Amino acid sequence: MEHKQTVLILDFGSQFTQLIARRIRESKVYSEVHIHNFDLEKIKEMNPSGIILSGGPMGIYEEDSPQVNNEIFHLGIPVLGICYGLQLISSAFNGKVEPAEHREYGKAHIKINNESSLLNNVKNDSVVWMSHGDYLTKMPEGFGLDAATDNSPICAISNEDKKIYGIQFHPEVAHTEEGKKILNNFVFNVCGCKADWTPQNFINQAIEEIKNKVGGKKAICALSGGVDSSVAAVLMHKAIGEQLICVHVDTGMMRKNESRDIAKMFEENYNLHIIHIDAADRFLTKLAGIDDPEKKRKIIGNMFIEIFEEEALKFDGIKFLVQGTLYPDVIESVSVKGKSVTIKTHHNVGGLPEKMDMQLIEPFRELFKDEVRAIGYELGLPSDFIKRHPFPGPGLAVRILGDVKKEYLDLLREVDDIYINEIKSAGIYDEIWQAFAVLLPIKSVGVMGDARTYENVIALRAVTSTDAMTADWYRFNPDILEKISNKIIRGVKGVNRVVYDISSKPPSTIEWE
Ligand code: XMP
Repeated sequence: MEHKQTVLILDFGSQFTQLIARRIRESKVYSEVHIHNFDLEKIKEMNPSGIILSGGPMGIYEEDSPQVNNEIFHLGIPVLGICYGLQLISSAFNGKVEPAEHREYGKAHIKINNESSLLNNVKNDSVVWMSHGDYLTKMPEGFGLDAATDNSPICAISNEDKKIYGIQFHPEVAHTEEGKKILNNFVFNVCGCKADWTPQNFINQAIEEIKNKVGGKKAICALSGGVDSSVAAVLMHKAIGEQLICVHVDTGMMRKNESRDIAKMFEENYNLHIIHIDAADRFLTKLAGIDDPEKKRKIIGNMFIEIFEEEALKFDGIKFLVQGTLYPDVIESVSVKGKSVTIKTHHNVGGLPEKMDMQLIEPFRELFKDEVRAIGYELGLPSDFIKRHPFPGPGLAVRILGDVKKEYLDLLREVDDIYINEIKSAGIYDEIWQAFAVLLPIKSVGVMGDARTYENVIALRAVTSTDAMTADWYRFNPDILEKISNKIIRGVKGVNRVVYDISSKPPSTIEWE
């Protein structure tokens, strides 16, 4: 998408880089993260309203530490350096950076002695969040000293003529009391941006661009019923109407009535052209006897692609494939910790375009999840639907530990339905990031009436989270848990014990497989 104004963030590997982008977008200004050595010509072409140099875990003099092309300081574009970014500015203008005796981590109080445009109206002595090992010991040339903290005598600097600013602390984290104001000062006062990155503007522009791209041709999209694919489908339909074909594959691993409800809602309320494929038997046949989690995930992913392809080939002239890819999947991050390992193979429709001769349309490539939700609201999708807990592509197959069988799926669907309905009626559904039940591959002894039972064990999981990268177990009121447990054991034949999972992520993951 073309943006009239963009704040460019160059990433030097800080764990907070994405947060900077989110904060700026919350102020309704578009911002984009790129790798620290993003090509200078591309920067010139983009002509951003401002550039932010992020923090980073290394010292600027360390071998292989990421560097900035110093020409960016001479483009006439305002620059804000945060932490490592401040040190880069310092080094570019002959200041000095040295290792501190102690790494400074946590809260500090900022003493402002000059209200630069960046620190305009920022409360003196307010709390700022520090996380650094090196610090400035000599001012860079041409810069004024604006603020200090006890451990960082050079904590904020500015060159107002060149519009270059540097701060040692992190304004993007919530612990920095005046962080939002500081970022807003930079974006609005220094860079002169306007607050016009709104869902409605996004939708209007996306529709225009999709129309131009697709022309009179057809596009296909996999509609799982998840928030991203649903919002993408509705947006696409607004842009190209009947030229959009949606395929919903019922894998048989869905929750109770889920497939039926999804198809009904989109057909009735949005007039989408949906092809509904009942593929439960195909999935179950392939999964028979497989108990390895990764194998299960791969089988489901591959089968999904196979079915989707079969359907796509039934139509002539499909030239575009719609995917609900989100921004965090796209950001090219700086790898400072070496290779990453695959914890779980996530199943989405990735991989399709290589095999099929179609161009990709990814309307949300630039968006964070909460922005997609905001677009969903703006497009009129029901709030219940937008707030739904995430559900993994492989569905209940990764919540039945071990072998997946139809009878287990049916049992788990009943349990899940009771659990989720109880959470809803207790009014706590929106407090929880994700809640679900897991069928364990063991049996335990119980007693019902006078008889001994030997039946299945269900584990309940509920977590709070903001991005699924980390999660904490949800603290239920015990009375609610008791009610849920009773209802499950009384209501679902084959279950005689319910346990609650109290592990956080890390070291556990959210799903059990
Ligand atoms: P984990 O279990 O890795 O899950 O902590 C993090 C989040 O991702 C969801 N999840 C998936 N989502 N396809 C998806 O679209 C998948 O294959 C998949 N596996 C896990 C999980 O439910 C949680 O929200």
